[in-house]
Amino acid sequence: MSFDLVLFGGTGDLAWRKLMPALFQAFRHGSLPAGGRIIGVARDDLSDAQYRELIQSRFKAVEGAKRPSAEEFEKFADLLHYLRMDLSKPADYERLAQTLQQRDADTVVMYLATAPSLFTQTVERIAAAGLGGPKTRVVLEKPLGHDLASNRAINAAVGHVLKEEQVFRIDHYLGKPSVQNLFAMRFGNALFEPLWRREYIASIEITIAEDLGVEKRGAFYDQTGALRDMVQNHALQLLCAVAMEPPINAHADALRDEKLKVLRSLKPWTPESIGLHAVRGQYTAGTAYGERVQGYLQEPGIDPASRTETFVALRAEIANWRWAGVPFYIRTGKRLASRDARIEVNFKPTPHAIFRAPAGASANKLVINLQPKDGLELHLLAQAQNSRKRSGDGTQPLATVQLDLDFGQRFGTERVGAYERLLLDVIDGRLNLFVRSDEQEEAWRWVEPLIEAWQNDSGPRPYAAGTWGPSASSAMIARDGLAWSEEQ
Ligand code: BG6
Repeated sequence: MSFDLVLFGGTGDLAWRKLMPALFQAFRHGSLPAGGRIIGVARDDLSDAQYRELIQSRFKAVEGAKRPSAEEFEKFADLLHYLRMDLSKPADYERLAQTLQQRDADTVVMYLATAPSLFTQTVERIAAAGLGGPKTRVVLEKPLGHDLASNRAINAAVGHVLKEEQVFRIDHYLGKPSVQNLFAMRFGNALFEPLWRREYIASIEITIAEDLGVEKRGAFYDQTGALRDMVQNHALQLLCAVAMEPPINAHADALRDEKLKVLRSLKPWTPESIGLHAVRGQYTAGTAYGERVQGYLQEPGIDPASRTETFVALRAEIANWRWAGVPFYIRTGKRLASRDARIEVNFKPTPHAIFRAPAGASANKLVINLQPKDGLELHLLAQAQNSRKRSGDGTQPLATVQLDLDFGQRFGTERVGAYERLLLDVIDGRLNLFVRSDEQEEAWRWVEPLIEAWQNDSGPRPYAAGTWGPSASSAMIARDGLAWSEEQ
């Protein structure tokens, strides 16, 4: 099967950081179908040879085994082509059409790694140039829009010229190996599913913490903020993966129907719940990797009076039979104490205690680690065999022990990365791990009251870089008598 992959935003940040490395890995492992072309599109005036050089220069920054040797890059470079386009000019799409006709590939993937404000226009012009036919697949990067109305407008415009099965809304968290394993753990094993409900689960914590700041993406980030950048998409997709009902099969619509139901069951925000259960923050100067780092407002590209949040903590509830009353705590932020993404499922204690557990020993907990480690931990209480202390009945005190499964060690560290997997899925036409328009709309609907409320509040709460966010985040969860995992 031949393919052409047109990469709009071909010289942009995402192309450098994620897409080209992922395409190279797929090429290196022989999973990219032979006879494909990768056509970078941007405004710069470059020849194919110059584009290849540019890509090669960026690969030099890649460390370790992921860096191609000169020989490997030469072979990969044969796939790379370049087309200068001004996305506002219809004539430029005609040139694209001519370039694609030269090959007449079986599949044409149009990857829109551009600003979302260009999506509608680009998709319309792709279609107007006769490029929207059934062999075309369009990949849209997140965030799709900046609120519910703009998301609907983009989806309506896209839906006008393309069929839903041609549209691949990417959320790279769905491509992470640990998320595949969450599905496998829940729906490939009988062990946890009977317990996966309000009767046995006390609370669920979803943390996506980054130690990086906004890096070179200040201008984008300042218009976006953590709620739109991480919560509306990645965090809510994780919440869906944890909370959804077992789908009838592993096909795209079966999975997406179940995720949609979760999003529809999220308890809507009210002014009271926003006050109690939603915290936003912005980092100030502090420490990262042992060095002093500047605050958000001093970062390049940021408005010095910006009210954009770099941290969000929320307490959500899912109003259905399985989850009623179980708090789902979601937390994400930049410049936090470490890079750490995980889902913690906290089980209820036994209904009646016959053993002594020391104060603070937690009950059962299942931790799904997404990064930096990728694995599962099961926390259990066991009798501390090395303790000489005994109670009257002869039992030893209970202590927390851990069953630890490290997927990296188990399956080898050379696993397929999220973007690599998702790019291959697009080329193969598999939609399972992509987001449907109705799902995306529901997620925007849920966050919309927060966007509105935060427009007129007193602004984000400051937190020092290198900490776990503003103290209001701990206070929020403490109101339920709980603490974030690192505070336990
Ligand atoms: C992206 C966000 O979607 O996800 C970035 O735009 C964020 O701001 C990134 O840094 C995090 O992805 P990962 O895979 O590094 O956790």
